[in-house]
Amino acid sequence: MDAVRLIEEAYEAKKYSYAPYSGFHVGAALLTEDGRIFRGCNIENAAYSPTNCAERTAFFKAVSEGALGFTAIAIAGDREEYLAPCGVCRQVMAEFCDVHSFRVILAKSKQEYQIVTLKELLPRAFSGKDLRG
Ligand code: THU
Repeated sequence: MDAVRLIEEAYEAKKYSYAPYSGFHVGAALLTEDGRIFRGCNIENAAYSPTNCAERTAFFKAVSEGALGFTAIAIAGDREEYLAPCGVCRQVMAEFCDVHSFRVILAKSKQEYQIVTLKELLPRAFSGKDLRG
């Protein structure tokens, strides 16, 4: 997995961020097991709650194109700080990814980043297994 390449894709995705209300622009790039990359940006709405985060945009684009099986996602914001995904996006990641192996790349810049597992971000996740008992 080329973390720097994925971060570059996340910054490219951020260019299309539609964030007229928060002014907080986010891009994400999701890597599939077979090497494809799906980009996503945040898309806001005047009614606020329909807003979709960059991470979920990337996941929903990928799943709606038939992709399943993901290895990593890179997330890039405007600020020189590590941007961690919101709780809703973590839950969506847990739906489609192995919490132990899926890598979340938090980019501060193209040069500075941290790699964490989904397990670290979402310990004791609720999943389909809990529903089945
Ligand atoms: N946002 C993301 O796209 N990803 C995150 O990880 C955190 C928040 C978006 C949602 C909203 O458009 C804006 O950032 C401010 O919360």
